[in-house]
Amino acid sequence: MGPSQALPGLVLLLLLVSSSASVLDDTCKSFGANHKDIGYDYCIKFFQADKGSATADKRGLAVIASKIIKATASSTGKRIAALKASEKDKKVRSGLDDCHDVYSEAVDELDAAVKGVEAGTPQGLKDAVTNLSGAMDAPQTCETGFQELGLQSPLAAEDSEFTREVSVALVITSSL
Ligand SMILES: *[C@@H]1O[C@H](CO)[C@@H](O)[C@H](O)[C@H]1NC(C)=O
Repeated sequence: MGPSQALPGLVLLLLLVSSSASVLDDTCKSFGANHKDIGYDYCIKFFQADKGSATADKRGLAVIASKIIKATASSTGKRIAALKASEKDKKVRSGLDDCHDVYSEAVDELDAAVKGVEAGTPQGLKDAVTNLSGAMDAPQTCETGFQELGLQSPLAAEDSEFTREVSVALVITSSL
């Protein structure tokens, strides 16, 4: 096959690739424009955790986002349990306990968010936004708990990462 014959196929391939990548790209561009503190690059990187993102429509991206964050909430819960197991200080343990509770709740809320977006009804989408807002409280509550105990949070990095992730999901889900 000569170059002149290969060209139409190549053009078609490029068209396919660019059209399927554009929902993700457009979504992250719009997110990045309105959330400069988090940004476009973060959004793209966040979605790389799920291969389906490249070909998903906007609702699909919202579902994927909540699923990714549910996995984060669940692994953060495991990390908190591990920290607690090796912690001798009673005050720190009580702070970790509270964080563990809120991240467990967040797992349920994210599960509910996935179901709401998948249902796709106006009520389902509205509930999903409520559930995501609930999940957004987890890192804040966790941080506030340590502040009130007069302790430096051992989960500061996890809490700020979780906040960023939920922001992405919340913005996309609210726009559906
Ligand atoms: C999700 O939000 C709906 C609507 O507010 C609420 O009824 C439901 O209990 C929430 N689910 C969870 C797991 O928090």
